[in-house]
Amino acid sequence: MRPILAFNWKMNPQTEEEAARLAAASDETGVIVFPPFPLIHVVRNQLTKAMLGAQDVSAADGGAHTGEVSPEMLKALNVSSVIVGHSERRKLGEDDALVASKALQAARQGISPLLCVGESEAERSDGLEVEVVTRQLKTVFDLLGREGLGSRLMVAYEPIWAIGTGENDAPEDANRVAEIILKVAEGFNLFPRVLYGGSVTSATAGRYIGKHSTLSGFLVGGASLKPEEVRNMITEFLL
Ligand code: PGA
Repeated sequence: MRPILAFNWKMNPQTEEEAARLAAASDETGVIVFPPFPLIHVVRNQLTKAMLGAQDVSAADGGAHTGEVSPEMLKALNVSSVIVGHSERRKLGEDDALVASKALQAARQGISPLLCVGESEAERSDGLEVEVVTRQLKTVFDLLGREGLGSRLMVAYEPIWAIGTGENDAPEDANRVAEIILKVAEGFNLFPRVLYGGSVTSATAGRYIGKHSTLSGFLVGGASLKPEEVRNMITEFLL
């Protein structure tokens, strides 16, 4: 199966010109670009093959929610996927219930939620990664499954300690957790694609995906802001 390269730009770049250049470099089938909201238009105009994503969505449909963006607004912009449950948003107070409502609202509009799960460094040291990830998955699987919307879901396993740190999880550990994710999903009759994220670069990505691996793509932050890295990953996985 063709891998998915999900490029999470976070709060970058700072100008429309840079965004346009980066989007042009990322434009390949199998890529999903997640720009910050104000740059979505610029990126949309550049993409002909890659899909457009958003980094967040409101759990509400509309109304008095200052600073929020509704799933319907995203749909009107041709956004096909939205990140939910990223650790950088969980750190701001988003809990599993809110993450699940965001995923549900997005899925109701036909937008695929890209659900991020992963344990902290302390949780990994205590051997709690399976417990933490399973808890994060179940609330979302349950809510989406009840409405028959789970088929739109993708999952990214991102150990928090590997995000933006240059630390890499061992490929066999990452694939072991990916297998557990699929097993939990199966219990809800769901079969999501599972991506890996956390300091992925063109030099390290190849170790995670092989003949027998469960992972089928990457959620890339820092490296997705470097056109050369982007080109290398596209050449290795998509061409
Ligand atoms: P990183 O970010 O590749 O910079 O570690 C990944 C992510 O947070 O999605």
